[in-house]
Amino acid sequence: MNIHVYDRPEQAGQAAALLIAAQLLRKPHSVLGLATGSSPIPIYRSLIVLYQAGVISFDRVVSYNLDEYVGIDPDHVCSYHRFMREQLFDHVNMRPEAIHVPDGKAADLAAAASAYDRAIETAGGIDLQLLGIGRNGHIGFNEPNSHFVGGCHVTDLTASTIEANQRFFDSIDNVPRQAVSLGITPIMRAKTVVLIATGADKAQAVKAAVRGPVDPRVQASILQAHPDAHFMLDQEAAALL
Ligand code: F6R
Repeated sequence: MNIHVYDRPEQAGQAAALLIAAQLLRKPHSVLGLATGSSPIPIYRSLIVLYQAGVISFDRVVSYNLDEYVGIDPDHVCSYHRFMREQLFDHVNMRPEAIHVPDGKAADLAAAASAYDRAIETAGGIDLQLLGIGRNGHIGFNEPNSHFVGGCHVTDLTASTIEANQRFFDSIDNVPRQAVSLGITPIMRAKTVVLIATGADKAQAVKAAVRGPVDPRVQASILQAHPDAHFMLDQEAAALL
């Protein structure tokens, strides 16, 4: 694990964006695994700046997002489809057909999840997987569990995740109770993993992931076994290391 600590969240975001930019310079047709949530916003902002400056291009990139809420329409103001359009895709030259986000409204969610796994494999696997981390140590919506789930799956969100995500919704009652999430296998098969964590409320999860045993109750701890994982932290998130 490579631990990089910066004074401010924006710097952690810029540094993570540079890792992604370097990936695109090395391999313009990279398969990127992308994340939503507050933490990657500075990363996407920096990538847009690099794109507008003509430093990087997304014209050959293929992307697979980590997760989506079950039952939420892609145009819903809180959907991860919409988040990605607003934070990144509408501002860079991604090809629409190269963008993939799990379908939380599929009639057969399990079949759609399996198809998502197969599509990633057919694309050659993920070159660089961007992750945030939940306060409970989740990556994607791989919630604390007695084991690591390999494939894309439907999952019940824990009370802690529902509470953390209520800030995006009118009320906690409107936060979906389930999500479709990429499993641990494609994340661990990604050639490079870049995890961003900022703020004091992530310090405990970061400590457990980095210093604790590999334990499915802290799903991010599996990244200790990844050969090229980078934790991009600000001082607050790194405070307990
Ligand atoms: C989002 C995702 C989640 C978030 C995590 C942290 O696609 O998979 O694991 O990365 O919940 O969210 P923020 O960054 O909002 O604290």
